[in-house]
Amino acid sequence: MIDLVATARSLFAPGKGILAADESVHTATARLASYGVEAGEEMRRQYRDLFLGAPGIEQYLSGVILFSETLLEKGNDTKPFPVSLASRGILPGIKVDLGTEPFPASPQELITQGLLDLPVRLAEYKKRGAVFTKWRAVVRIDGDQLPTALATHENAKRLASYAKEVQMAGLVPILEPEVLYKGAQSRQRARAVISQTLGTLFSVLKEQAVDSASIVLKTSMALSGDASGKKDTPEEVAEDTLAALVESVPRQVAGIVFLSGGQTPDQATENLAAITKRAALVRAPWPLTFSYARALQEEALSIWKGKEENVPAAREAFLSRLAKVSAAL
Ligand code: 13P
Repeated sequence: MIDLVATARSLFAPGKGILAADESVHTATARLASYGVEAGEEMRRQYRDLFLGAPGIEQYLSGVILFSETLLEKGNDTKPFPVSLASRGILPGIKVDLGTEPFPASPQELITQGLLDLPVRLAEYKKRGAVFTKWRAVVRIDGDQLPTALATHENAKRLASYAKEVQMAGLVPILEPEVLYKGAQSRQRARAVISQTLGTLFSVLKEQAVDSASIVLKTSMALSGDASGKKDTPEEVAEDTLAALVESVPRQVAGIVFLSGGQTPDQATENLAAITKRAALVRAPWPLTFSYARALQEEALSIWKGKEENVPAAREAFLSRLAKVSAAL
């Protein structure tokens, strides 16, 4: 019997967090294009190897979330990526949702797909070495209009069904209802939406008898929207983020990880430092860490540009950012 609580808790090893390297083919292609890299399958593999093959990442990473394509590929060390990660003590995870589609009852909002064939895919991912999974729901704020209660509830139901399937398959589920940072909303509005979203999620999880001790919550920070013209201080972000979490997340949850959501690497690092500092002060009951994609990768990608000769310098930038984010814990 796999101890899911112990696996979930081990993602919160001191000074360590998670690299989200689970961009879909579509997102990875667009991301690389924004750095001038034209990406086919082999270039995407090299992109993954840049990060996953970097010597020394095990000092800072407890886990890596992979995309299904990467789970099946080998690194430049000729080992399958999940095997190579596990040999360095890093838990391999896998994104299992299949992206979003418009919600028919409120077409400006998105719901997440991927439940239909989930049990079959989970068995295959587990065979390949994955020990945890991620499902992302997207929450858009638009004034007082969005999100609607209906969409919030539909995404919560799907997250709960996902979590149940994953636990039954013997894997740890990360539940990620991402409240987007895009928009003109105030930080207070973001805080309220995070709190409502999580309140609905945890009441549905309870109704469906999902074991919350072996789930990990992945959340956004409470930030003023990127079009609000307001720049929050890390202390403001920490206060509102923790207030939203304390209001709505049960204490038995294995831990909470943060996404970077389009913040700059420095912003995501400074805000995390303020959050962990305040969490100790208010005695928040859960372990906290990072689960960043963009904030960990951005600096390295701007150096790499798809060129072999830039790999050492790009990896150095990645390790230096990991050290800073780890120091924020
Ligand atoms: P960002 O840190 O770039 O927001 O990505 C985290 C993630 O996993 C989004 O699903």
